[in-house]
Amino acid sequence: MNYKTIFCLLIIATMISCNSNNSSGPDSQVDEWWKEEIVYQIYPRSFKDSNGDGVGDLKGIIEKLDYIQSLGVTAVWLNPIYSSPNDDNGYDVSDYRNIMKDFGTMKDFDLLLEGLHERGLKLIMDIVVNHSSDEHKWFKQSRSSRTNPYRDYYHWWPAEKGKPNYRYSLFDEKGEAWKYDKKTDAYYLHYFSQKQPDLNWSNPKLRQEVYDIMKFWAQKGVDGFRLDAFQFAAKDTSFPPFPEGFEKNFINYYAMQEGIHDYLKEMNKEVFSQYKVMSVAEGAGRNFEDAHNLVDAERKELNMAYAFDGVDLAKYEGYDFHRFKKIFTQWDSAFEKKGWISIFLANHDQARMVSRFGNDKAMYREVSAKMLNTFILTMRGTPYCYYGDELGMTNSTFKGIEDFRDIAAINGYKKAKSKGEDMDYFMDKLRFESRDNGRTPMQWNSNNQSGFSTGKPWLPVNTNHKVVNVDQQLNDPFSVLQHFKNLTAMRKNNPGLVHGKYKILTPNHAEIYAYTREHEGKKYLILLNFSESIVKIQLPEIKKIKQTLINNYPIMDHQKDVMVLDAYQATVHLLQ
Ligand code: GLC
Repeated sequence: MNYKTIFCLLIIATMISCNSNNSSGPDSQVDEWWKEEIVYQIYPRSFKDSNGDGVGDLKGIIEKLDYIQSLGVTAVWLNPIYSSPNDDNGYDVSDYRNIMKDFGTMKDFDLLLEGLHERGLKLIMDIVVNHSSDEHKWFKQSRSSRTNPYRDYYHWWPAEKGKPNYRYSLFDEKGEAWKYDKKTDAYYLHYFSQKQPDLNWSNPKLRQEVYDIMKFWAQKGVDGFRLDAFQFAAKDTSFPPFPEGFEKNFINYYAMQEGIHDYLKEMNKEVFSQYKVMSVAEGAGRNFEDAHNLVDAERKELNMAYAFDGVDLAKYEGYDFHRFKKIFTQWDSAFEKKGWISIFLANHDQARMVSRFGNDKAMYREVSAKMLNTFILTMRGTPYCYYGDELGMTNSTFKGIEDFRDIAAINGYKKAKSKGEDMDYFMDKLRFESRDNGRTPMQWNSNNQSGFSTGKPWLPVNTNHKVVNVDQQLNDPFSVLQHFKNLTAMRKNNPGLVHGKYKILTPNHAEIYAYTREHEGKKYLILLNFSESIVKIQLPEIKKIKQTLINNYPIMDHQKDVMVLDAYQATVHLLQ
């Protein structure tokens, strides 16, 4: 029988499921509550400015708590909000127990936490302790003399020993991670910018200071920690030479070095196990073994891995769709029996997901954004959804280097220029890949500055806010926003989408990513067209469709075991 499913039926089905929005899944998982969370990541600088200074702040987030709750997400991950001179937008912390002036006060923080908890939402804090700011009191002390008690909080190399062995810096304009400091005639180490000196984790005093800081936040009631760049924390402090060109593959030399698991076990004992907090590190090491060692519950380190392989794939030059499917499939199977992963396609270090994995042309933006959100919310793992992706926010338009704010972009530009690189190519690539694309202000409405601020935003609002914004989507039942809400409701009402066994059906298909999820007698089929072509797909599972839970088109062309998927069409079905 050839039939077309009327969209209204779907909407009604979704509305019914939305009503039971608050169910929290199987009881057997209570001690692993973090598996069933849907995390919404907020870049505070860009979410909502309450005082017109052009910078988002905590009061701004408080204003939008009902909006956040209405998305159906269950937890918020806040990028760093601590005092910071903002060399790297808060990833250079000068006081871990205080709030950045731009963002407000500790009172605002307490109100924010209270407001989240009142709404049943959890809060995950970003802990930046591979490095601090050079303006942190520890570093000020440390650099003041060689005998200062804080000297060993950082990595120093006395100049009389000669120049230290080369270390690569991700953000330095010369790519050099050792910076000479005249005061004590020594070099200090900074894997990131010069204003982000690396902390010395081999020093037990430093470690205790960090645990105390984490306890301070845990006692306030935060629900979890994301450990920034932590896989780099352990270092061989003899700083031996690395092979020439190591920087092309620096992860192999920097990540998960000896000692890291001891530090994490200690942190777990001191902090995680003492409070009901979840833990996730940025990065998942060099390979599956590393990732497993991080999150194997028996080892008592972290709860979930956050691997970059999938998200790192899409470049200015494009991305390999087969590889994309392979990576997500491999990560799933590597964690099928033990451990847990995060699922995401975007964060504050990436350009916008629709521009990279979907299609940001006006014609396809909405459907492809819905399709990508469908992917994230139907995979096994804890989904991390980045602010604005629920609207289908896209990359912005940057012209010259003066339009960028990110230190990685600015210093990367200087470095490329000094090396005589092709700067036209560099700029094209930067315009597409820059982190600033993912940091433009949230698009609340079509007014000037998109309702983000009454002042001049720190980073210009994307000009497409006239058409891509919350206000415009709120009352549209077919919007990307409504689709996102339908997806979160579906995930919450179908624990099989959280825990169910994943099986890929189309590993070699050029356009389609199809998979099943199976759990406690329920089987789901997910069909995603990652292309702008209309694609006919034949699968035995299609014949078994009992109910369609999600469709990003008003109709569905389906006959026996064949489905014709429109451009970027995404459908989710319950099977017989
Ligand atoms: C992490 C953060 C990134 C930051 C870097 C240095 O990668 O996600 O934004 O620039 O660490 O702290």
